[in-house]
Amino acid sequence: MQLGRPKNLKRNIRFLGRWLRNPKAVGAVVPSGRSLATAMAAEIDRDAEGAIIELGGGTGNITAALLEAGIPHADIIVIERDRAFHRVIAERFPHVRVLQGDAANLRRLLQDAGIGKVKAVVSSLPLLSIPDRICRQIVAESMAVLDDRGVFVQFTYGPASPVSKRIAADLGLRGRRASWVMDNIPPASVWRYQRNSAARESQQPQGEPQGEQARRFQKRSA
Ligand SMILES: C[S@@+](CC[C@H](N)C(=O)[O-])C[C@H]1O[C@@H](n2cnc3c(N)ncnc32)[C@H](O)[C@@H]1O
Repeated sequence: MQLGRPKNLKRNIRFLGRWLRNPKAVGAVVPSGRSLATAMAAEIDRDAEGAIIELGGGTGNITAALLEAGIPHADIIVIERDRAFHRVIAERFPHVRVLQGDAANLRRLLQDAGIGKVKAVVSSLPLLSIPDRICRQIVAESMAVLDDRGVFVQFTYGPASPVSKRIAADLGLRGRRASWVMDNIPPASVWRYQRNSAARESQQPQGEPQGEQARRFQKRSA
């Protein structure tokens, strides 16, 4: 959560208001803090080609971190179902494409918007409060739009993987916790999922693991 400036405070109050109306769909009382947003952004391979899809934009803190990490506006597409949040984020980032729609229909949303290659899906959807069937659909749709080496990045406030073992196994995914973010309210962790084949390759001991990168980013931005 970033209280600081009046604009942040206004956004946080708006967020709380949306949560009061629909706690399950919003999934958090306050937006993600800067460290968490930075840790999510650190999981993206900036050298790879393709768009980055952000699911559940809210008031835009993850979007801001993606931009701060040097990802061009044109490469980010935000999907937000709630009309009020959609308006907030579109006003906050006029140069980012913000699509109003349901992440469960991701393929169609991207097709209609003419978006091709996707290298990462960054999700802050409240997967733990979404019914299993919908959660499975959202993850399956995300994997369907991702290229072979693409990553699905998701944060959680829970102690375990936010994508159940069953769903991961059925969809042929391997997940691992990339980082902990203890100074978020509440503390959170960032998970990354890839197709089994891609996860095996990226776990070869060549260079620094992505989680290390995330921790360095966090230290730098602290
Ligand atoms: C926990 S909030 C995260 C907001 C913001 N990204 C952040 O980290 O502060 C979850 C967001 O997901 C949106 N959302 C929930 N279900 C959705 C769905 N099926 N499709 C698209 N957006 C959804 C909510 O409206 C809310 O803005």
